Amino acid sequence: MPTAPLSHALRTTATGGTATPVAQILSLGAYIPDGVLTNADMEAMVETSDSWIVERTGIRERRRVAPGQTVAAMGARAAAEALARAGNPVVDAIIVATCSAETRLPSVACRIQQRLGLTGMPAFDINAACSGFVYALALADSMIRSHTLGTVLVVASEALTPMVDYTDRSTCVLFGDGAAATIVGSGAGDGGIRAVRWAADGGEADLIYFGAREDDPQGPSAIRMSGRGTFRFAVERLSGAATQLCDDAGWSPDDVDWFIPHQANLRIIEATAKRLGVSMARVILNVERVGNTSAASIPLAIHEAAAAGRLQPGQKIISVAFGSGVTWGGVALEWTGNPSL
Ligand code: ACO
Repeated sequence: MPTAPLSHALRTTATGGTATPVAQILSLGAYIPDGVLTNADMEAMVETSDSWIVERTGIRERRRVAPGQTVAAMGARAAAEALARAGNPVVDAIIVATCSAETRLPSVACRIQQRLGLTGMPAFDINAACSGFVYALALADSMIRSHTLGTVLVVASEALTPMVDYTDRSTCVLFGDGAAATIVGSGAGDGGIRAVRWAADGGEADLIYFGAREDDPQGPSAIRMSGRGTFRFAVERLSGAATQLCDDAGWSPDDVDWFIPHQANLRIIEATAKRLGVSMARVILNVERVGNTSAASIPLAIHEAAAAGRLQPGQKIISVAFGSGVTWGGVALEWTGNPSL
C-alpha cells in the first residue's frame, strides 16, 4: 500500500516548559465477519434459551470467523480502512492487541504488515485480553507524547469462537469475533487523549483462562471463566478505573458525554454505569449484536458510534475495559473534529 505523510502539524501542549504532543485518534476502521451465530443457534448447541441469554447478558447474536479466516486477515481489513481514511499516512509502528492469534510465530502485527505491504516500522503484538485495546492506546499515547514516534497504527483483532467450548453454556454464549483499527497521531485540531490508566493483578489469573477444565485436566482447552467472580471484579475495576480517569482529566462524571465500555455483558455495563452515576442514555452499546469481542470490543463500539454520527467534536469520552489476567484500564478522550473520523 502506498504511504504519504499526513499533512497535519504536530500539535503540542506546554507541560512544565516542555512541548508535549497530544495523541489523537485520527481515523478508524472495522471489520466483522459475515457469519452470524444467533441465540437460536446457541439453543441448538447447548441447553439454554434466547430469553436466558438476553436477560443475563444482553446478547442476541455474535459474529463468527469463516474457516481459515485469521486474526491477521480480519485485522488487515480493519487497518486498511483506518489507513485509507487517514490518507495513507507514514506509519511509525504497528501494535496489535489480541489474545487469539492462531500461531505463536510470527506475530499478527507482522502478518498484517505483510498483508498491507508495509515494511520497516516496528510491529508487535500485545496480549492484555479484553483490555488489549486500551493497553495499546496507552502505549501509543506514551510513544507520541515522548516524541519517540509520530504515527501509530493500533489494531485490535480477535477470533474467539474457535477458542470456545460449545458444550459450556456459561461461556459459549458470550464470545464473538471481529477487528477494529485506529491511526493514533498528533493531530492539528483540539481534543485527544487526556488520561490513560492501565493495571493488572496476576493474583486473579485463574478467574478467566484458556486451558482444560479444572475438573478435567486432560480434556480439551478452551476459554474457562468463573462467571460470578468475573462479574463482581469487572464492575469494581471498571467503575474504579472510570472514576480515576475522570479525576485525572479534571472531569466529573456529569461532564462525560459518552461512556464507551468494553462490551462484555450488558449487566456488567449497567451495573458499572449505575455505580458511576452515568445514565444508560450516555452509554454506547453494541454487545447485543456482536457479543464480547475482547480487545476489539471498544474500538468496534467507537467505530460504530462515530459512523452513526453520535460522537461530536469536543465531547468527553471515557472508555474502560477489564479482562483475563486480570487486566483493566481505560482512556479519557476528548473527541476531535478530524475529517477522517
Ligand atoms: N443458559 C441457561 N442457563 C445457564 C447458562 C445458559 N447459557 N449459563 C449458566 N446457566 C445456569 C447455570 O448452570 C446455573 O444453574 P444452576 O443454578 O442450576 O447451577 C444458573 O444458570 C446460574 O448460573 P450463574 O453462573 O450464577 O449465572 P449468572 O447469573 O452469574 O450468569 C454469566 C452467568 C452470564 C456468565 C455471568 O456470571 C456473567 O456475565 N459473568 C461475567 C462474564 C463476562 O462478561 N466475562 C467477560 C470477561 S471475559 C474476558 O475478559 C476474556
